[in-house]
Amino acid sequence: MNSPARDRARNLGTRLGGLGFGGDYNPEQWDEATRAEDLRLMNEAGVNLVNLAIFAWARVEPSRDTYDFGFFDTVMDDLAAHGITADLATMTASPPPWLAVEHPEILPVTASGGILSPGGRQHFCPSSPVFRDRAVRLVEAVATHYRDHPALGLWHVSNEYGIHVAECFCDTSAADFRQWLAARYGDVAALNDAWSTDFWSQRYTSFDQVLPPRTAPTYPNPSQQLDFKRFSSDALRTCFTLERDVLRRITPDTPVTTNFLAGHKAVDVHSWASEMDVLALDSYPDPHWGSAHIGAALSYDLLRGAAGGKPWLLTEQAPSAVNWRGRNGGKRPGRMRLWSWQAVAQGADAVMYFQWRQSRGGAEKFHSGMVPHAGVATRVYAEVRELGRELALVPELAGTRIRNEVAVVFDWPNWWALELDSHPSEGVRCLDRVLDHYAPLFEAGVGIDVVHPSADLSRYKVLVLPSHYLLSAEDCARIGAFVADGGSLLASFFTGIVDEHDRVHTGGYPAALGDVLGVRVEEFWPAAEGEAVALRAPEADAPAPAPASLWREDVKLTGARPELLFAGPDWDDDRPAATVHTHGRGTARYVATRPHPATMRAIVDRALDDAGVAPVLPGLRPGIQATIRRGADHDVLILLNHTEDTHEVALPADRRDLLDGKRPLVRRVTLDPRGVAVLGSDGN
Ligand code: GLA
Repeated sequence: MNSPARDRARNLGTRLGGLGFGGDYNPEQWDEATRAEDLRLMNEAGVNLVNLAIFAWARVEPSRDTYDFGFFDTVMDDLAAHGITADLATMTASPPPWLAVEHPEILPVTASGGILSPGGRQHFCPSSPVFRDRAVRLVEAVATHYRDHPALGLWHVSNEYGIHVAECFCDTSAADFRQWLAARYGDVAALNDAWSTDFWSQRYTSFDQVLPPRTAPTYPNPSQQLDFKRFSSDALRTCFTLERDVLRRITPDTPVTTNFLAGHKAVDVHSWASEMDVLALDSYPDPHWGSAHIGAALSYDLLRGAAGGKPWLLTEQAPSAVNWRGRNGGKRPGRMRLWSWQAVAQGADAVMYFQWRQSRGGAEKFHSGMVPHAGVATRVYAEVRELGRELALVPELAGTRIRNEVAVVFDWPNWWALELDSHPSEGVRCLDRVLDHYAPLFEAGVGIDVVHPSADLSRYKVLVLPSHYLLSAEDCARIGAFVADGGSLLASFFTGIVDEHDRVHTGGYPAALGDVLGVRVEEFWPAAEGEAVALRAPEADAPAPAPASLWREDVKLTGARPELLFAGPDWDDDRPAATVHTHGRGTARYVATRPHPATMRAIVDRALDDAGVAPVLPGLRPGIQATIRRGADHDVLILLNHTEDTHEVALPADRRDLLDGKRPLVRRVTLDPRGVAVLGSDGN
């Protein structure tokens, strides 16, 4: 039986009739003549979806309870007349000046007591009852006004929650935090236990004594810090659900989303996902970073995993440069197209940008737009228009799914806990560690899902735990069962160290996975910054691998066999650096350092071989990505050339070239540098 959320998401798909294409549209920044040109150009460029009115609160509610929809009525009518769907914002992303003047208590407070002023955006305390009340009133007015408007196809709640203000330390937040703790722990004794408060005389006798982890003389309690991050994500989620509930009541058939930012630490996407009808991501890979496409791939697989495999929307990307890095590289010709198709290849049903027309003023005037300052006789606009034409050629991609056999485990509480202070090495960073594992898998050409530890693991053959520090005993038990049932596990150092309260699983690390991995770690010996960690193979005559880095530790074998050893001069006593263990019907590998990428690739390949996992398309050259999106009776193979060379790819069977309007059958494709091929199964 279909869930209502799925029905609502389908309503958007049906309405678009294919993939979405468009961007943030900020017509309030432009005069009438420009707006008229915008609509003509949007039609020319194939735009069918725009994110509208995201920063419009000050214009739509110029003073308390006075709503003026005149401007946006015209815009919505014009969009409808041009066949363009509005992803209409609830307009609550940036409170208007009058609200901060009337209610300065809505302003967020930093950990050291500073107040964040208006003048930028997102200057609201997520727990503020005044902010929440004013937001809900606005949403009620907006939803009531536009409920039957023909342009309305999707609701866009707020904007990138928490990107500027993810945590507020004011007294209102403190009170909200206490309530959240009382609901989580029931009584203060349970909190004392979870937070290990006998350490440093932190024992509480009442919830009333508990504070947010404000700036303290030294390290605040780590479990308190971790819970405050959970609470802060939940407080923002409550802002979202309050607005969503209004929208569901007034427009029950219109899907609701909010846009997450790729690589954003503060918001626990997994805990929000079930509250949304469709997930949406803003992605800004850095053109100056040679592996940007791998970082982007990770974020797409992660979002799709959080969506339970359902299609998602790329709500923002840059047409070329952004404005907010130190040095803002532009996208070379073809790269915007390549990276857009990459999002589609990894499950996106819409490709959108920030923003339609590059602003004349404001902080983002040097952020590229689909229509640049230089106008439409530009490379950027030509590439945008061409991409719009191409995406419209493949409507059958919409709604299709991806099936993979490899899962990398990721969750936000682990990210938060792993990067807390007073750890063995500040060099162990979550996204770096995940990429150290994800990149060799990506390069091996296998399809990857990035999943929460509580996901259904039975559908996977290989499971990867990249320094997954925080794992509950229950999750460790499920992972053990996955291996015993025949799965292939690859776990790296500093995995399974603490429980959900950041308390160590004692008995030799990683105690709760020790039987599965066949190892027991007694001590961590992290490397100095830049220090080479020498390795050698157990066989005396085998060549030594390139040095590792970051970490070494004292691994004792309790059933596993070593595949690599730490080498001298000070570490020459045959301590294992990488091991393999048979557990039940499966295999568990453990890596006690950060190997050189080539060594890591060899370890990953062995884990894939153990499980018999093959690449999506065997025989591809490095840098060519292949994914298959599957429908009920068709599938689409997408090939992406992330290299600067031309490559010929031989296909195992004839496929239809869907980017050629005549859809000819092909057996070979030529991928130009940064080239793309979109190939349907014969029936397409
Ligand atoms: C984010 C925001 C947009 C804009 C872009 C600029 O994604 O959602 O409003 O600021 O960044 O890159």
